[in-house]
Amino acid sequence: MRKPLVAGNWKMNKTVAEAKTLVQELIPGLKAIAGVERVLCPPFTSLSAISALLEKTGIGLGAQNMHWEASGAFTGEVSPQMIKEFCGYVIIGHSERRQYFAETDDTVNKKVKAALAIGLTPIVCVGESLAEYEAGQTKSVVTRQITADFNGIEAALADRIVVAYEPIWAIGTGKAATSDGANAVLKDFIRPTMSQVWNATIAQNVRILYGGSVNAANAAEYFHQPDIDGALVGGASLKVADFTKIVEAARP
Ligand code: PGA
Repeated sequence: MRKPLVAGNWKMNKTVAEAKTLVQELIPGLKAIAGVERVLCPPFTSLSAISALLEKTGIGLGAQNMHWEASGAFTGEVSPQMIKEFCGYVIIGHSERRQYFAETDDTVNKKVKAALAIGLTPIVCVGESLAEYEAGQTKSVVTRQITADFNGIEAALADRIVVAYEPIWAIGTGKAATSDGANAVLKDFIRPTMSQVWNATIAQNVRILYGGSVNAANAAEYFHQPDIDGALVGGASLKVADFTKIVEAARP
């Protein structure tokens, strides 16, 4: 009932020319995979060129960040409208944005509201740090994030949201969470919190991805878990064969 979604977060990689080459190599394989929503998230500079290449492929395009205001004196920022010109999706609140660019649950909340208002699908990232994990604080951290990030968002808009659970200690480290452990966080902490924020139906309908060192070898394990609806993939999304394999593994 929840359609699987696999998104590739390219982070700060690829010039326009390199991005076009990668996408041209990805298209034949990804186009053929039915039943999975596939999304590529290159840097802002490539969105225009890549959106032209993805036309009529069924492959979605997303940005990696967005400002919440419509326009104005915000040097270096990109507005929801500017992203909507090219994209259907936007990653919001990635842990690297929270960690290196001082994003807070409050700014994440504003961005999620702005994305929903303009018709973008937000992919909202949550997850605990290594210190929090080791201190047994996973539940309190993700509960706080889900509650604050979705504060004041109407139930009618909520099932357009996608959540990505990404334990920070698993991102780019090769130390992926176990599939059982990740599923338990979704089932025991994230869905019950969404049930409190909205209601039980929405908590069951919202798609939740796992992210953190997902690769071609371990992806299927996550997708077999009942609460995991796909993946947010960093490093492996830059490799054609690996990313295609991951998307294939998500096929229902
Ligand atoms: P990774 O990154 O797959 O390289 O661990 C995941 C992410 O940051 O979204």
